[in-house]
This record gives sequence, C-alpha cells and structure tokens, in this order.
Amino acid sequence: MEKMQTYDQLLSRIEELETQVTESHEIIDAIRKGEVDAFIVKTNDAHELYTLRSADKSYRVFIEQMNEGALTINENNIILYSNTRFAGLLNVPLENVIGFDFTKFMPQAFRLLVTKLIKACWEKGESKGEVVLSRKEGIVLPLLLSMNTIQMGGSKAISIIVTDLSLQKESQQHKKAMDKKDEFISIASHELKTPVTSIKGYVQLLRYNFEKEGNTVAAEMLGKVDTQINKLTSLIGDLLDVKKMENGQLQYQQESFDFNELVMEIIEETQRVIVNHSIKYKLAETKMINGDRNKIGQVLTNFIDNAAKYSPGKTDIVVATKTVDNTVSLSVQDFGIGIPADQQSKVFERFFRVNGEKENTYAGLGLGLYISSEIIKRHGGNLQVQSKPGNGSVFSFELPLSH
Ligand SMILES: Nc1ncnc2c1ncn2[C@@H]1O[C@H](COP(=O)(O)OP(=O)(O)OP(=O)(O)O)[C@@H](O)[C@H]1O
Ligand SMILES: [Mg+2]
Repeated sequence: MEKMQTYDQLLSRIEELETQVTESHEIIDAIRKGEVDAFIVKTNDAHELYTLRSADKSYRVFIEQMNEGALTINENNIILYSNTRFAGLLNVPLENVIGFDFTKFMPQAFRLLVTKLIKACWEKGESKGEVVLSRKEGIVLPLLLSMNTIQMGGSKAISIIVTDLSLQKESQQHKKAMDKKDEFISIASHELKTPVTSIKGYVQLLRYNFEKEGNTVAAEMLGKVDTQINKLTSLIGDLLDVKKMENGQLQYQQESFDFNELVMEIIEETQRVIVNHSIKYKLAETKMINGDRNKIGQVLTNFIDNAAKYSPGKTDIVVATKTVDNTVSLSVQDFGIGIPADQQSKVFERFFRVNGEKENTYAGLGLGLYISSEIIKRHGGNLQVQSKPGNGSVFSFELPLSH
C-alpha cells in the first residue's frame, strides 16, 4: 500500500517536473525574444527583482528604431541580441536570427572575410569591412559591418552595426553625375562667351557698312542675326550667372533707383524685340527702391519673355505695379497656355521645365525663373505664380521699398 503511494507520488512528481521544464523553456524563449521585462527570484529571505528591460529600455527602443542593423554575438559567433532592422535586412523573422550563428547569414563568398573581421575585432577591439548580400528576390545590398568588443556581464561579446550602403552609393553616384554636368555647363558657357562676343562685333560692323552702302536688305538680315546673337548671349549669361550664384560669387550692386523708370525702360526694350504681343501697363505712383537695378530689370525681362513665349496666338501682356505699405509689387500677366497646379511651385527650380505635349515645343533651359527667384530672394522679396491651364498666368514679385 505504502509502496503504491510512493509510485503515485513519483508519477506526479515527474509530471510536476515536466511542467517546470516546459515553463522554463518558455521563459528562456521569452527572454531571448526580448518579451520579458523583469522576473522575480525567491531567495531564502526575500524576493529579488531582476530587470531585463526597464533599466535600459530607452536604449533598446533607440536601437530598435535606428536605421542600422544592430546585433551582439558571443565568442562562438552566436547572435545573442539583434534588432528588428538586422532581421529585416536579411529578410528573415527575428526569431530565426537570435540564437543562431552570425556567419551563416553572411554570403558564402564573404564568410572568410567576416571570420577575419571577427578575429581582428577580438584582437584589436574593433574592425570594419564591407560585404555584399544578395537576397532571394534579386535585391543586392552592399553592407558595412562595424564591429566593437563590449563587456556583457562577466563575459565579452562583439557588437556589430550593419549599415545599408545602397542609398549612400546611389546618392554618391547621382552627385557625381550632377557635378560632371555642372562642370560641363560651366566650361561650355565660359568657352562660348568669347567667340560669341567676337561674332557680335563683326556682325555689327558688317551691318553698319551695309547700311552706309544703302544695302538695306543685307543690313536687315544682319539685324536679325544680331537679335539671335543677343539671345545666345543672354543664354550664356544665364548659365554663367547660375554657376556664380551657386558658388556665392555673383556680385550685387547697391543703388537707390526709381522703380517705375526701370519698368518702363524694360517694357520699351522688350517690346522692340517682341513683335507678336502688345505690352500694356498699369503703374502705381512711382517709388524708390534699393538694390541691383540691372538684376531686378533682368527679372522683369524674364517674366515678359516667358509671357510672350508661352502665349502664342494671344496678343496682350499686362504689366502692373502696386505699392502696399512698405513694399512694391510687380506682376506680369499673360493669357496663354498656363501651368498645371501641381507644377506651379516647381517652375522656380533650376532646369525645371513643364513637361507636356504643348510645352515641349518651346525652346529654353529652365533657368530664367530660377535666376529670377534667386535675385528677388537676395533683395528680401519673394516670387509668386498664379495660373490656370488654358487661361494664362500671372507672375509677380514683391520688394521692400527703401526708406
Ligand atoms: N508665363 C508662363 N506661362 C506658362 N508656362 C510658363 C510661364 N513662365 C514659365 N513657364 C513654365 O515654367 C518653366 C520654367 O520657366 P523658365 O523661364 O525658368 O525656363 P524656360 O523659359 O523654359 O527657359 P529659359 O531658361 O530660357 O528662361 C518653363 O519651361 C515653362 O514650362
Ligand atoms: Mg524663361
């Protein structure tokens, strides 16, 4: 009887132990996955609280949220901790990462290198190297591994930061291409300047001679050539200006001048060249402003040029000025093709041109408005556009009055 009871007791004892083993497995698993914040251990005379998370919770959150993969490995290359980002880079679930051999996740071709990096890190305290990871979906990731030894409790471990270099490499390449383009533009425009100036000189001389001889046909033709050369000159000027603006080398004059006088001057000048449009104007009482007269004039010329260029078949261009409080504003209105709403803010960007069937038929570099906005910004003003496709556009700027 007593014997039977012992047997039953043994059975239940075994059952109890089994449950305990399963439980501790679950607990270890939870700790490994970082699901446990703290646990309490009963000692002979008290309860002791062991915190896993709370003490360094902010660091964990920080490491979880960083854009780099972060992990620690022990001396057997087993991953003790990994953030979600590292698992994301590998494209495997986090629970298939922690507890496994780090080197096994590295591509075959780089395993030797990675082993060397780890060895070097144990010896020197830190090491760095690049590997390329090809994922199943055909994604190729260049990765930078930065290793450091760290003290973890009583033992040492290695922490590894994994940086995805693909974005960096892409933007480096983009920057290189842009630099090349800029360099080309700046050299080309510089080299064009001298011959164009010389051509202009000869054309003017020839024209003068033909006029003197009474050969009006030839003189008129040369007049047209001269107009085209002027366009070319202003184009080259734009390119050189952009270069200087970007290097902060563009010189601005400081002078006080009559705003309306300048506006009238530009209207007359542009009307001479623009034959299919008639420039109307409505000017407020004249005011003095401070700044670079030529450059502000250049902005108005750009506005009028655009108004004429982008309103074929329409005749009117309206220039208006207004003074409100301490500012003067100028607007140029046309009744042409207009600009779609989603592109309006972009027209002031360097080299930006509206894309579309209609728009593609006009020549230009997309620099006029970029230069204009830089000039106006430098004078403490701002540029604006209002436009409706099919109805036309109003470009305007505001400048502070001189006091
Ligand atoms: N008045 C306007 N009406 C319609 N679209 C315009 C008007 N002004 C500018 N745009 C659009 O904005 C773009 C940028 O204008 P911007 O003057 O900077 O360059 P561009 O005229 O193309 O060339 P350029 O450098 O010779 O001036 C133009 O390409 C055009 O698409
Ligand atoms: Mg333009």
